[in-house]
Parts: sequence; structure tokens; C-alpha cells
Amino acid sequence: MDIMEALSVCGIIPVIKLREVSLSEALADALVIGEVPCAEVTFRAAGADEVIRRMRMHNPSLLVGAGTVLKVEQAKAAVDAGAQFLVSPGTNPRVVAYAMERGVPILPGVMTPTEIEAALDLGLSTLKFFPAEQAGGPAMLKALSAPYGGVRFVPTGGISLSNLADYLKLPCVAACGGSFMVTADLLADADFSRISELCRAAAAIVRDVRYA
Ligand code: 3PG
Repeated sequence: MDIMEALSVCGIIPVIKLREVSLSEALADALVIGEVPCAEVTFRAAGADEVIRRMRMHNPSLLVGAGTVLKVEQAKAAVDAGAQFLVSPGTNPRVVAYAMERGVPILPGVMTPTEIEAALDLGLSTLKFFPAEQAGGPAMLKALSAPYGGVRFVPTGGISLSNLADYLKLPCVAACGGSFMVTADLLADADFSRISELCRAAAAIVRDVRYA
């Protein structure tokens, strides 16, 4: 199974901003216990590459990617640390070219038909739809995806337990991203059991939508 397929099997990708690198291992465990074996570790916090390295070493079966990859240097640091996929809020052709050169899948962000076509021109067919809720939510994504049959999307931005199913029901959605499972408050309190609980709730929604 390739990485994009594995992400799509997960159905939900926790978006993580972890300042305290020493919590990497406990967080990796919490995700696995919560039945969500993947993570997008964002460069919104310095040291994201170290978190990626530590999570991957701690649990090689966890799928670990880098998020908020804005620059080629960040893409390099992430891939060198073992990131298995990259995510960006927009589509930066230099970052995309670098990811392709390193053979690492990248999900660049799009919000308009013109941006989708630019990403298609770069040879990509799975794209982040960002910021999903603010851009018009599932109705917008449904309309936006209609002319682009082969394109799959990973909506992110404003997704929570209450609207996750509405996105997952769309056939064009490969998976959803969201920070709601691993919030800053839960990390500050080192409340890993609550993180696992929220992951389990999200995983249950993925199962309900796809297999019920
Ligand atoms: C991201 O970095 O992809 C988004 O900011 C995550 O959006 P959310 O915090 O609304 O889930």
C-alpha cells in the first residue's frame, strides 16, 4: 500500500503543533492507542523535524508526515528526519518539486479551481483543501470537485467531531485533517488519555461513514 492509500485508510489525520519535543513518544503512543496511526507534525512549532524523527523511531508503524511546509529547507529537514509525507497550506512549486525529487508524497493546499489546475499541472492528484470550513465547507468542496473527476482532497481547517462525517461522505475526500484531537491545551496538560479518546471518537466516525 502506498502512503496516500495508507492515509486514506486512516481517514483522519491529526494536525499537531508540539513545542515540547520530549512528549513525542507519549504522543505517538496516544495516537496508536486511539486507533489513529498517523500524524501531521507541523512546522508551526520549531523542532518539528526532531518530533518526526522521535515519533518514527519510537513506533515505525506510525505514519508520520510534516505539515505547514512553507520552504524547501523545511521540506529537506522533514524528509531527512523520516517524514513519509508533506503537507502545505498552499501550493509552492519549489516545495512540490523538491518533494518529488526526494520521492515523498506531498499534499499542497488549494482553495479554487485555478489552484487545482496549477497543482494538476505539477503532476499532483491528491490535494489539501484549506481552509475547509472557512472556504465553504462540504458544499463548496462538492461543487469544486465536480469538474475534476480524478482529484482527491484532504479537507483541513475547522474540522471537528461534529462535521467530520459530512466531509467523509463525499467520494472525493481521501481523508480529513484536524487539530481537534491534539489541542494545545491537551498537550499543555499532557492529557494523553483524552487525546486517545478524541482519536477513538474520530476513528469511529470514519468507520461509521465508510463501513456502516
Ligand atoms: C492546518 O494547519 O492544517 C490547519 O490549521 C488545521 O486546522 P484546524 O486547526 O482548524 O483543524
